[in-house]
Amino acid sequence: MAQPSTTPAAIRREDYRPPGWTVPDITLDFRLDPAETQVHATLSVVRRGAHDEPLRLDGAGQVPLSVKVDGVAINDWRIEGEQLVVPLAGDAHRVETEVVIAPDRNTQLMGLYASGGNLCTQCEAEGFRRITFFPDRPDVLSVYRVRMTAEARRFPVLLANGDPVASGTNEDGTHWAEWHDPFPKPSYLFALVAGDLAVHRGSFTTMSGRAVQLGIWVRAADLPKTDHALHALRLAMAWDERVYGREYDLDVFNIVAVDDFNFGAMENKGLNIFNSRYILADPDTATDYDYDAIAAVVAHEYFHNWSGNRITCRDWFQLSLKEGFTVYRDQCFSADQGSAAVKRIEDVRGLRASQFPEDSGPLAHPVRPESYIEISNFYTATIYNKGAELIRMMATMLGPVKFRAATDLYFDRFDGTAATCEDFVACMEEAGGIDLTQFRLWYAQAGTPRVSVGLAHEPGGGRATLRLAQHVPATPGQSVKHPMVLPLKIRLFGAETGRALTDETLILLDQLSETITFEGVTERPVLSINRGFSAPVVIESDRTAADLAFLSAHDDDAFARYEAMQQLMLDTLVAGTINGVVQADAVLDAVARTLEAEGLEPAFLAEAVLLPSENFIGDQMMTVDPDAIHAAREELRERLGRTLEPVWRRLYAEMAQDAYIHTPDAKGRRRLRNVALGYIAASGAPDAAATALAQFDAADNMTDRQAALTTLVNSDAPEREDALARFHARYADNALVLDKWFQTQALSSRADTGAVVARLARHPDFTLTNPNRARALVGAFGVNQRAFNAADGSGYRFLADQLIALDRLNPQTAAKLLPPLGRWRRFDGERSRLMRAELTRIVETPGLSKDLFEQASKSIE
Ligand code: PHE
Ligand code: ZN
Repeated sequence: MAQPSTTPAAIRREDYRPPGWTVPDITLDFRLDPAETQVHATLSVVRRGAHDEPLRLDGAGQVPLSVKVDGVAINDWRIEGEQLVVPLAGDAHRVETEVVIAPDRNTQLMGLYASGGNLCTQCEAEGFRRITFFPDRPDVLSVYRVRMTAEARRFPVLLANGDPVASGTNEDGTHWAEWHDPFPKPSYLFALVAGDLAVHRGSFTTMSGRAVQLGIWVRAADLPKTDHALHALRLAMAWDERVYGREYDLDVFNIVAVDDFNFGAMENKGLNIFNSRYILADPDTATDYDYDAIAAVVAHEYFHNWSGNRITCRDWFQLSLKEGFTVYRDQCFSADQGSAAVKRIEDVRGLRASQFPEDSGPLAHPVRPESYIEISNFYTATIYNKGAELIRMMATMLGPVKFRAATDLYFDRFDGTAATCEDFVACMEEAGGIDLTQFRLWYAQAGTPRVSVGLAHEPGGGRATLRLAQHVPATPGQSVKHPMVLPLKIRLFGAETGRALTDETLILLDQLSETITFEGVTERPVLSINRGFSAPVVIESDRTAADLAFLSAHDDDAFARYEAMQQLMLDTLVAGTINGVVQADAVLDAVARTLEAEGLEPAFLAEAVLLPSENFIGDQMMTVDPDAIHAAREELRERLGRTLEPVWRRLYAEMAQDAYIHTPDAKGRRRLRNVALGYIAASGAPDAAATALAQFDAADNMTDRQAALTTLVNSDAPEREDALARFHARYADNALVLDKWFQTQALSSRADTGAVVARLARHPDFTLTNPNRARALVGAFGVNQRAFNAADGSGYRFLADQLIALDRLNPQTAAKLLPPLGRWRRFDGERSRLMRAELTRIVETPGLSKDLFEQASKSIE
């Protein structure tokens, strides 16, 4: 762990220089052992251009056991900082190094580490330097040959990137395997796995008729839980051929599931490594949400084979080149598997829950950042999800045919290279025949644009005037902003007849303000704007509660319909928080009408009638009063529950299903039924807990069981403890389900949640060494607005204690959980003071990692 005894230095985008030496080939020879692994690397290096710089190889504090040049041991190498510097006379040499590393002491889970008795690697972004000395930057592309030797009994399976070429056994109880990846790749895509694993095999025949052998590797007991992931992989492979014309390029494609993993999954060439939560599923242990997440992540990593691996990033400032585009691709894939409207609603909800707060807080950064201290801190919702919105806006502006031509051009022109965001935009521009000069500001300016909207109507002349004005808030380091290009889909509806008065039109708002007139508008128009969430902006409109209720009933764009209801609820809840009185009538009416409307699918209904989260309500307010928000929201929930109780009960009965099946429709019905259960409980009905417990007992799937548990965990009912105990006992040996047990309690709306969470942190099943477990308790608690922001500061202190402890084990995961403490500007004086005191305590902790230092110090400013 690097100790910032002095302030760690920032890396700046403008300082990018091409590498002085390239490495066309590398051969790696591993003698694998958990305590002591020997790594012998042979690099062919070639001088690039005319210079007399030595070769610089990144390491992570190790010292090489030996260094050879062209087969001869040398001793004029030196260590400078973390780099091995090797003076070289000629323009091409063979450089060999030898190091010894200890995977079983690697708690950071970067480089080569042990998980559940197996050995695996994680190299993005800068983990390869923890394995061997190498120019560990994404613009150095090499062909890899890997040889692994390991004890045959403990590590019967040896996997690496590319295709297997040879294997054999030795007399001493070890065996070996060699793999070759013909595609030049950056070091962050290197991977190997050694372990005792079973495989679920499948095959896929590509569009040109090549057979690919697929394998999903897990511990033997988990084999029955791999069907869904394998199915999703096949769907993703076919989808990328059909929609983008992209074919897979190796003879094998392997996925390995591991329990200890810092992120969701990793797209290593031909050998994806996954957090097991994004692979393992069966109805008894995985929710519908988990099933969808698995398909999305499997597709995401697969899609990276083209958007990420065949074309990679020139430097880490270009991270969104692969991540934004790949998220956009996985979103479209998922939309094609079920309801596109519901998928869009879910994605926008996610964006608002994670990216909007980031963009308005101390860690705001552009989609293409200008500087970083630790690149791991930039795997953010802004790079991923806002990045995906940028691609979506370009796709909207180009239209489907030109967008496909533009991606074809991009894949064709930059295949085999390390490219930039600019390269991608230039392809959009060229193939789309449009000028994206001003649009490029989306990559450079942080902050969520706000658009204020007013619609005026002169009934006599039949003219409607739409006034639009944009404002991009200041963000750290960017006080002055320029107007951006905002693609807004709009349509007008008649307030009396409910019919559409115009076609849907795409407006490109690219000035500070603009006025648009519509003629022949004979009845009072109601504005539907940012349909489909065509731009990732905040709309501030003067639409009345009546207008919003009207749109929630009549809009023909499903997203806009959902959005109108959300806005109505949000306005009601913000006013209720401020005034202490909730004027519920408009919401009650609109929800009742939506539930009665014809032709709406259950999954949509379930989304439409859910209240905005407490966090999202807080994000609308200058000063967040977590208790008042909680009270207002609970009051509206109760009113909805009581007033519509017969409707919730009818839906609860109607949406019941005989036996579990996994189809989009069955999923939607489960979702709506569980939302109904939540409202029955909110109504205060005396039989609610018994209904939930009955569902808990009868459930033949985790979606229903967890929903029942959640309802009980939020209640004061005596059934609560019983359900928690039985849930724990039933899944005592299933780590992924125990995560749900912790998480459900950490998210509870009860007043004692802070104390419960503190107790759970001392539970025998709790550990900070497993990132999923840490996130399930500590991460979930941080987004429980009411519990985390307890007035006495106990929540802040708890989080800081956990982060300081976690930082010693796993800095990346610790840094990811810090942002809730950075919301201090939005709270009252006493809470602000308490939060800042904890941030200060973190920053002043001796031996702090760069990761946590960067997040905490930026959050105090
Ligand atoms: N590149 C991975 C993805 O988006 C995420 C990741 C980043 C995983 C860093 C591990 C480490 O799919
Ligand atoms: Zn990705």
